[in-house]
Amino acid sequence: MQTAKSILLALCACLLAGVQLHAIELLPTFGDIDHIHLPALLVQHADGDQSLQLRPQDTTYIDNPQYKETVIATKDIVQPFYVTIHVRKWKSVDITETWYEISHTEKKPVRLQRFDSGYLPIEGDDPHLLHLHGNWAAEGVPTVERLTRGVKSIRNSDGARNAHLDAPEVMIALDGVPQENYGRVLGAALCWSGNFELRVAATDEKGFHFYAGIDPMASEYVLEPKKVFSTPHLAYTWSNEGMGGVSRAFHRWARTCGMLHNGNATRDILLNSWEGIYFDITEERILAMMNDIAAFGGELFVMDDGWFGSKYQRNSDNAALGDWVVDTRKLPNGLKALTDAAKERHIKFGIWIEPEATNTLSELYEQHPDWVLQERNRELKLGRGGTQLVLDMTNPKVQDFVFNIVDDLLTKHPEISYIKWDANASIQNCGSPYLDQIAKRSNSAYGLTSNLYVDYHLGLVKTLERIRAKYPNVVIQNCASGGGRANYGLMPYFDEFWVSDNNDALQRVYIQWGTSYFFPSNAMAQHIGGSPYLMTGRTTPIKFRCDVAMSGRLGMELQPAHMTDEERAQCTIAFADYKEMRELIQLGNLYRLVSPYQPVPVVERQQVASLMYVSDTKDHAVLFAYGLSSFMKQSSRRIRLAGLDPDRTYTLHEKNIRVAYHHDRNAWGEGEPCELDGKSFTGAYLMSVGLEIPLSTEYNIDYPSRIFELK
Ligand code: DGJ
Repeated sequence: MQTAKSILLALCACLLAGVQLHAIELLPTFGDIDHIHLPALLVQHADGDQSLQLRPQDTTYIDNPQYKETVIATKDIVQPFYVTIHVRKWKSVDITETWYEISHTEKKPVRLQRFDSGYLPIEGDDPHLLHLHGNWAAEGVPTVERLTRGVKSIRNSDGARNAHLDAPEVMIALDGVPQENYGRVLGAALCWSGNFELRVAATDEKGFHFYAGIDPMASEYVLEPKKVFSTPHLAYTWSNEGMGGVSRAFHRWARTCGMLHNGNATRDILLNSWEGIYFDITEERILAMMNDIAAFGGELFVMDDGWFGSKYQRNSDNAALGDWVVDTRKLPNGLKALTDAAKERHIKFGIWIEPEATNTLSELYEQHPDWVLQERNRELKLGRGGTQLVLDMTNPKVQDFVFNIVDDLLTKHPEISYIKWDANASIQNCGSPYLDQIAKRSNSAYGLTSNLYVDYHLGLVKTLERIRAKYPNVVIQNCASGGGRANYGLMPYFDEFWVSDNNDALQRVYIQWGTSYFFPSNAMAQHIGGSPYLMTGRTTPIKFRCDVAMSGRLGMELQPAHMTDEERAQCTIAFADYKEMRELIQLGNLYRLVSPYQPVPVVERQQVASLMYVSDTKDHAVLFAYGLSSFMKQSSRRIRLAGLDPDRTYTLHEKNIRVAYHHDRNAWGEGEPCELDGKSFTGAYLMSVGLEIPLSTEYNIDYPSRIFELK
């Protein structure tokens, strides 16, 4: 019989086979661990036994053009209980994925009480943890803390979304506070869209132990004999180039390893109707907005919430979800008139849906009250609008319904090229009529309610897989009240995600900063909002708003009819310049240069944020610099660039130059570039001495910003 040590040897063999495992130490299971470890796997067997001592039976190595994978089949020494350990190492990028496949042939179901996706031992001089915390309209705030003895747990219990509040990605710097461009840092992402728990435990003086997986709270998984439960993947990387190195590895992995749908494609510039007109959709308003986005040089118009409903109208957030028919009171000529109009204007057309939800005020709920999540004999807890409910995605009939929403839309209107898929409710009612039915049939003693938090997401992914199999080319945005579903569990099915409902350009600098730690820019939807901004009341110049949105997937979300001529002129220039640099911005290598979180005495020294993208060949780069504070006589900041070729000479070209009023033409047009425009420097100079970018108050504007292309 093989011992735990021999599994370690099998893993060493993987190392020899070229799969870099970075000292991964296996799968600590309850019943087979010392007092130092926590279990990553804890099960209750059919006979009540809770121990697990897995020993390897067989090891196979897969070597395909994209990755090397080691597959270790293990079995418990007593029970007919099996775990297959997978370790996949991608070839084009230093990312490893681990996951476990769990099955058994015991007489009755086994309860999985803890079923992590991976475990990593961490040794460092002074480990620090960085995790992203946030909320609606304030996503992606990095929190850094020194790891101390005890167990640190990061969890999300929303049920349906998992990136508001705490997110399923972390970095651990081994030797002190994580730095942007140097230092040993582990980056890890749990590829899952439901409840999770990430734990870092220091139970003795020897080191730290990192565990990541589905949160077992209220989620003990009942596994039937012969069924295979596959945990979500845990993806991780080690970098010697600080947080920047971790981010670049994740971005490349997302784009090239299928973790972002159509990851290597660029995205269109769009106008979304939401903050411009909310639910007040009429054909006339939509056509006017289409005219505007086309006139600016945009490529896509997206009609947001408010277009559907028959018996119940969608005039606010309290009705009609589930009734996916055009509201002909608002759009008398249907969607066809809109897709035709888009075609005439040479732009594409997109539409909003929230397929996993309904309202008590809807025909869907009237017809299928058993399709919503609900607890047995308890009153329904209602969400958004006081009426919103979540559909039971564990139910195959509901999965068909959700598939058909998309299928009907795209079959009837093949011209629709973009879908915004929203999810605005948590799972408040933890019960599934469908799982209850199954449990009744199988005579299960405890029922299957505790499978709900997991099966919901398995059902969702199954539905998304069907949609993608039929519609690989439709661009689908992942939205959940903003960035509530920015996670790698769902990104393989989506082309991009809505970073935040907050379009205040100043706060967006911060939100986008944190979000970029793990997600690539072509996935990050960033929109130019109105000013003063409706949520914060802040007034920001149109150039700043454009420059902030231009660092990711550019779009706009305001009522163009309310824009001034100056704003229109600036947006037209921004769109044209963006198109020229789009490939570099959306697919280039990100270097974060100056963090908006860097504390400075702002009255003396300007608070700045700056980042850049560099092409793989290092011959092309784009630099963004934002002034976040403006005081008289404040000293400006020198920004040192990164990622360039030190021996190459780069010439700076200012982009999206601030507009000026041209009295000779009686019109707004491009103003004067700053003195750096046209100047050349070596990469070595730019990276060691840096640039003093004119962002000072002498320009007499709050929130100054500059963009330079380097060639
Ligand atoms: C929440 C989204 O985040 C918004 O962008 C918008 O689509 C609304 N839902 C519509 O109800």
